[in-house]
Amino acid sequence: MRVIDHNSITDVAIEQMASTPDPRLKQIMASLVRHLHDFAREVDLTPQEWIEGITFLTNVGQKCTPFRQEFILLSDTLGMSALINHLHDRRATQMGTNTSLLGPFYRQNSPNMNPGDCIVKSPRQQIVIYGKVTDVDGNPIPNASVEIWQTDEDGAYDLQKQDGVAVPEMDMRGTFHTDANGGYYLRTVLPLGYMIPMDGPVGDMIRAQKRHGYRPSHIHFLVGAPGYRELVTALYAQDDEHIDSDTVFGVVETLIVNPVKDDPNSPMKGYPAIHFDFKLAKAAAEGTGRVGADPSQIVKASH
Ligand SMILES: [Fe+2]
Repeated sequence: MRVIDHNSITDVAIEQMASTPDPRLKQIMASLVRHLHDFAREVDLTPQEWIEGITFLTNVGQKCTPFRQEFILLSDTLGMSALINHLHDRRATQMGTNTSLLGPFYRQNSPNMNPGDCIVKSPRQQIVIYGKVTDVDGNPIPNASVEIWQTDEDGAYDLQKQDGVAVPEMDMRGTFHTDANGGYYLRTVLPLGYMIPMDGPVGDMIRAQKRHGYRPSHIHFLVGAPGYRELVTALYAQDDEHIDSDTVFGVVETLIVNPVKDDPNSPMKGYPAIHFDFKLAKAAAEGTGRVGADPSQIVKASH
């Protein structure tokens, strides 16, 4: 009989898991147990604190619905989503446009739109976003899909504006396709920076840490074409006061933009315009670059 104490428990647990046939699962679980145990030893975790942690995670799970993903929010606010993104970028064989967070508000099957369409049902001040989708050498990629989603001018996503509605209507989101020269253009509004959802356990955590909870104004993009790495990214507004203190650590310098008035190259005149070209890297063998998913897909998969 092996003596189990506060140190040997780690090896004993990992040895018992050594029967795991899947080598990757075996590696991940052994490492998880090692770090989890080290964490408990490092802070000398008490039973009451551990139960508090379990209660917190239970609340996080119970807050999740097909339209709300509290676990993604937790991952985002702990810097875990940004870390996974950076690890994903490091594995790329070619360097395309930098990635950024998918966030908890992505929805599949947003409305298909034509070039120049406005993704916002009731816009106040419209802007144009235009550019090209190319490979890393600048060759245009025709018929690439460009999915866009964002908040309105007051900082709310459709899912938040229609909180409690059984199936919220899609707004401030759409799917475009590039033309034969890889070009895309669309109309939208400048989103407002917003506070992450603060009415759940993650909000309690943010308040306990005296963090402001804001994300700088940003526009999400998911850009894809067969044979290329799916690009999950976002463009950030330069003049936002929280550009340097994003609660979910998503801002990357190369993704900061500023709308230009009277841009002579804009395909639609009379609106401030943002020009941004997306570069896609060749597809690698590994899977998706989405850190997160449409919340309804996660809830479906968990049943
Ligand atoms: Fe967002």
